[in-house]
Amino acid sequence: MSPNTDFVPFALPSLGGEEEEAVLRVLRSGWLTTGEEARAFEREFAAFTAAPCALAVNSATSGLHLALEALGVGSGDIVVTSPYTFTSTAAVARHLGAEVRFCDISREDYNIDPEALERLLSSEPRAKVVLPVHVGGYPCRMEAILETARAHGCAVVEDAAHAFPLRTERGMAGCLGDIGVYSFYATKTITTGEGGMIVTSDEALARRMSLMRLHGFDREAWDRYTSPTASWRYGVAEAGFKYNLPDLLAAIGREQLKKADRFLKERRAIAERYLAAFASEPKLELPPLHPSHAWHLFSLRLRGEGRSVDRDGFIERLLGRGIGCSVHFIPLHTMNYWSERYALRPEDFPEALDKFRRSVSLPIWQGMRPDQVDRVIEAVLATAAEARV
Ligand SMILES: Cc1ncc(COP(=O)(O)O)c(C=O)c1O
Repeated sequence: MSPNTDFVPFALPSLGGEEEEAVLRVLRSGWLTTGEEARAFEREFAAFTAAPCALAVNSATSGLHLALEALGVGSGDIVVTSPYTFTSTAAVARHLGAEVRFCDISREDYNIDPEALERLLSSEPRAKVVLPVHVGGYPCRMEAILETARAHGCAVVEDAAHAFPLRTERGMAGCLGDIGVYSFYATKTITTGEGGMIVTSDEALARRMSLMRLHGFDREAWDRYTSPTASWRYGVAEAGFKYNLPDLLAAIGREQLKKADRFLKERRAIAERYLAAFASEPKLELPPLHPSHAWHLFSLRLRGEGRSVDRDGFIERLLGRGIGCSVHFIPLHTMNYWSERYALRPEDFPEALDKFRRSVSLPIWQGMRPDQVDRVIEAVLATAAEARV
């Protein structure tokens, strides 16, 4: 069977000649691992976000792990996040021996509910860190979250994996708490295939994360091999991790960063076309709107009550029409590891469960042609017309 060339994939990276040349430059330089390119990427990313310190890492998961470690999270501590996220947001707390408490999302958006957070923190004195997630590029209510977290003596680590570039009145999402972490995974708006960036304005935290990022070396590999005073001698100050971003990937990131605002503009234009096209279809609920939405995801909700919604059937039909889709998110508390560890039932977080059951995320990526956007719109409207509600 020949492949369906009309298929519109759920996500596709936008890589051009600039990225290809950047990779060749690094391949020919003789230095593949973390070095000058990674440092330049950090400087450029810090300038873009106005973050005082930016640290390149090999994934957002690594960055979140380093962030919690630097904040001293360990056994006996609680990390609070929402169940409406990817598993590594919470798993990094477990890597450090801490426990996780989930807090439901608010009905209006996909993000942690500040009122529910206040109730949880009031009854959980061991809470040490609050980890809000800007799901899909929609900003969390950071003012309320920061105020609540501070009042209970908690640090705030932003999971900004979906939130680049997302400008709020208070600054860039990811730069509003104590530490923020971005992802450059293959499906993200700017990508290095695998990669991430940590930002913070706290120099002591930055020093700790920098140390732990590469084996706890007292000196980076780059300094050991290439400086004029290079020496084989190095010390190990800690049992660190191997979380550095290689130059090969950093070079791609530098090119992607230059295009970030154009990418955002293109995604916004696609979102606007979807919003206009679906506004009058009563079976579809539009995503919450925000003027600075980063549109990492465009997630529709099918209207209806809980189990009666045939979301899976809707996606099957969209796939049959050649449209790639996804679901955001399968709530963590419905997954074996988390539900068994904390004896959680699906109904324990009703908002996260409801959003999940009715969720259909549509293709949205820079480079999508207008006719591909048309095809998604036609397929969604045709599928909605067939759907029972
Ligand atoms: C909300 C969220 N946080 C964290 C991550 C982990 O990112 P990475 O794959 O860069 O480790 C993801 C992954 O997609 C995510 O969706």
